[in-house]
Amino acid sequence: MSTFLLEISYLIGSITFIIGLKQLSSPDSARKGNLVAAAGMGIAILATILFHQKDGQPIGNIPWIIAAMGVGTVIGWMMAMKVKMTAMPQMVSFFNGMGGACAAIISIVEFNAHPHGSSGYLLTVFLGLVIGSVSFSGSMIAYGKLDEKIKDIYASFLTYLNLLLLILIFVILGIAVWQPDMFGHSVVWILLGLSLIYGILFVMPIGGADMPVVISLLNSLTGMAAAFGGFLYDNPVMLTGGILVGSAGTILTVLMCTAMNRSLLNVIIGSFGGGGAAGAKGATGDQTVKEISLTDTAILCAYAGKVVIVPGYGLAVAQAQHICHELEKKLEEKGVEVSFAIHPVAGRMPGHMNVLLAEADVPYPKLVEMEDANPTMNNTDVVIIVGANDVVNPAAENDPSSPIYGMPVLKVWEAKNVIVMKRSMRAGYAGIENELFFHPKTKMLFGDAKDMLGKLVSEVKDL
Ligand code: TAP
Repeated sequence: MSTFLLEISYLIGSITFIIGLKQLSSPDSARKGNLVAAAGMGIAILATILFHQKDGQPIGNIPWIIAAMGVGTVIGWMMAMKVKMTAMPQMVSFFNGMGGACAAIISIVEFNAHPHGSSGYLLTVFLGLVIGSVSFSGSMIAYGKLDEKIKDIYASFLTYLNLLLLILIFVILGIAVWQPDMFGHSVVWILLGLSLIYGILFVMPIGGADMPVVISLLNSLTGMAAAFGGFLYDNPVMLTGGILVGSAGTILTVLMCTAMNRSLLNVIIGSFGGGGAAGAKGATGDQTVKEISLTDTAILCAYAGKVVIVPGYGLAVAQAQHICHELEKKLEEKGVEVSFAIHPVAGRMPGHMNVLLAEADVPYPKLVEMEDANPTMNNTDVVIIVGANDVVNPAAENDPSSPIYGMPVLKVWEAKNVIVMKRSMRAGYAGIENELFFHPKTKMLFGDAKDMLGKLVSEVKDL
């Protein structure tokens, strides 16, 4: 009977993961999807504690398990309650790293329990260990970079070192599986150490605009590592969960690679994104920046036929999504056609802008993806850029020396007027100058996005 209940709970767990994932694909149902999948996971955990048996014996150490779950729940809960919306990407990276660490620890424990297992068993153990450890240390570095605590370190030799390390790890892994006596018990620590170092060195040089690809890749690695854990324990719910995370992360990685115009091989050997501070041309003495007043901005927008708003990370920092929606409604009342042009890596996490604007109830059809927005730029009267920078940088198109060269961007300069709303001339995430600010069509509206949009809404109202 208990086996039957266990199997049923695993089936429920697996089904809720799939339903949850499906619901996560739309902002309207995402919150529910998250709860559905979490409930399924809760059922699977509870059923495992109550009904799992090994050699006819129930699970032991129940107080320890419950205490560990309690500590983890309290820490996770407190972190999630405290985190600012803008620090969400860092937290996601941190949690992703924890998943990798769990998979690695499972492998270490399992190896210690069965050091003379079959080749298939050892292969699963070591793959879980290597992938989990790379995901853990890589995610911690990604966390530090997103939090701006860790700077990019570029050195061309790192590409070769990374490649060498990767080869070394797989050679040792192969020997450990097929000639287990060669290294003995210490192999697990050798693989752990090398994988942790590889994770650090592989993320360290990746800079600026290329982080989105790495983050989704690390996400898929954690999924794969968890799936190996599922194999080890012959646990269907862990396997399904791992496969879903692994495959969703892989699909996202491919989408991000396409969005950034990068190849996956380059990501894996960590050879792109270098040259962080190498700037695009622009801030030379002979170029000047033109500013625009709030009143002139209001007049320009209110009497335009078509306005496109480009949101970026600054919109999230300022929490200006609601007031941005307000501006859209006010302009529409005046007969202006308004839409939002969404760059796939605007903000700091996949779908960041979609989530923010959905939170402010901006109708989904108003969000236009980059490929559809770019061909309409030349018949747009005004583009208002709200806290975006790298995703509208023309250097990606016309400066081969720029670290973001080749990345598709929103071609806002093709519109009749460009207004850039930001606080200063400071660079965005990639740390490079933006020639757009000096473009003849561009006017700067300096200030905090929420504050400026609020004032702009009042000006438009008064017209
Ligand atoms: P960024 O290039 O980072 O530029 C954001 C701009 O917002 C900054 O230049 C900043 O200028 C401005 N800003 C900050 N706070 C503001 C406020 N309160 N009010 C008004 N403006 C404010 O952003 P983006 O254009 O969205 O590009 C995203 C970048 O992040 C890309 O390089 C991307 O590769 C990277 N990234 C993305 C992801 C994902 S998955 N989306 C993950 C990691 C990294 P001031 O300081 O002058 O105000």
